[in-house]
Amino acid sequence: MFTKLRRHLETVEDRLFENLLDSVRAQEFMASTGHMRLDYSKTNIDFKGRTLLIDLLDQVGLAEKRDAMFHGTAINETEGRAVLHTALRNLDGGPIIINGTDVMPVVLATLDRMDKFAADVRSGAFRGQGGAITDIINIGIGGSDLGPAMGVLALAPYHNGPRCHFVSNADPADIANVLRICDPATTLVIVASKTFTTIETMTNARTAKTWMGESVSDPAEQFVALSTSADGTAAFGISPSRVFGFEDWVGGRYSIWGPIGLSMMIAIGSDAFRVFLRGGQDMDQHFCTADWSQNLPALLALTGIWHNQICGYATRAILPYDNNLSRLPAYFQQLEMESNGKSVGMDGEDLLVHSGPVVWGEPGTNGQHAFYQLIHQGTRVVPCEFLVAARGHDDDLHHQHQLLVANCLAQSEALMKGRDLDEAREKVADRFEGKELERQASHRVFPGNRPSVTIAYSKLDPFMLGQILALYEHRVFVEGVILGINSYDQWGVELGKELATALQPIIEGGDASGKDGSTAALVDYLQKCGV
Ligand code: F6P
Repeated sequence: MFTKLRRHLETVEDRLFENLLDSVRAQEFMASTGHMRLDYSKTNIDFKGRTLLIDLLDQVGLAEKRDAMFHGTAINETEGRAVLHTALRNLDGGPIIINGTDVMPVVLATLDRMDKFAADVRSGAFRGQGGAITDIINIGIGGSDLGPAMGVLALAPYHNGPRCHFVSNADPADIANVLRICDPATTLVIVASKTFTTIETMTNARTAKTWMGESVSDPAEQFVALSTSADGTAAFGISPSRVFGFEDWVGGRYSIWGPIGLSMMIAIGSDAFRVFLRGGQDMDQHFCTADWSQNLPALLALTGIWHNQICGYATRAILPYDNNLSRLPAYFQQLEMESNGKSVGMDGEDLLVHSGPVVWGEPGTNGQHAFYQLIHQGTRVVPCEFLVAARGHDDDLHHQHQLLVANCLAQSEALMKGRDLDEAREKVADRFEGKELERQASHRVFPGNRPSVTIAYSKLDPFMLGQILALYEHRVFVEGVILGINSYDQWGVELGKELATALQPIIEGGDASGKDGSTAALVDYLQKCGV
């Protein structure tokens, strides 16, 4: 499938793509939703390459597969499930039928219940034993943590509800640090777990319940559950009136749009949360209607396929020049790597190409002073994805925001242009000469020709956050379809969980002799150290 693209790469890989970049290209190799602009002109994709890439979308039947997802077909074939997180933001869309039933009435009724509960918490109508709720602790992990934790931080300027804390790790330090600063009498604990079986979450939830029970007469009254498991939440003692359910067609890493987003809704209020949903829904409509050549999720996916599967670049950096998006790289890491980190295709056969890239990143400008050295001068090429807003939230500090934007644009320019040996010599010619001049100059050469895409938008408000998240969700879908994999299961997390369960009694003093030599020796060492 990639043969033509690989042949095309062979003919263009040595050129400097900067030389392609006239003002026509700048307009031709960008696309816009009206709310955000995707610029992919600083890549080595040319007209022919783009045509070949877009051809892929028709070859794999993307339009039919997209429609199948939106209409509730069980495209998660290994788990026999539909993939319908888009229904959670289908605020004024039509019915979505699964097994003969329209799911929308239940989705909208749950959203209304969330609205009412969030409003009660925010107004003080829902109280703890000691008064109005001052603190919320969301206990969850993976998609039941990363989404709301990222979202609450992203929308910090809109946060006017109680303080929010997020506990995810099995490490007792995580929950201990939070419990230390909360008053149990005015704290609401949200146990967020799709399955309500995840060991880290259930362990932390029990710890929180014990902590609250030490000073509150009926701790379960200050607990809420977000889950698909009515039995599990009942067994934990949480009243059905404070359980916000969802269905198995919402994957964990796609769940921020529904009940798992409750902490975010309480933080910013339900009106702002609905604006966030509208941002996602607007991107859905764009994805479903825009021509591929103007379709942001499709184009972003194609840049990913070009860089990873065709050029062979193994990683991708997510670099938000928007400090409130500090947790976005971690959120996208789960979204992309849990979705597309697979080795077999939908048919169970080994993939003949690499699947998804390693996704990582940090906000700019912090990353510039940490790992950009490797991005600019290391031997590996790292395609970069910059996100930048035209405006921040603090008008009196706009000059500082302009500095941020200048840094963002400078980085993509530097990656593309680099600095050749002549320029490097000029930089040091006043201090060195002869061999030492050559040696010093060579350290100051930047190879350049390093690709990046930039996603630019007006301001990070709830609508824009919804747009950004839905953009990347659909990008993952498109890449998954091209690769022929199931982006919606996650069997790769199972083995470690099973082995951890088996190891726990050994760590607690059991016999490690059945384990491999390394594991047994580590158990022995840690036991001697007091585990
Ligand atoms: O172990 C992986 C995973 O299943 C993720 O896909 C999910 O987001 C996370 O664990 C948490 O699962 P749950 O919401 O069921 O506790």
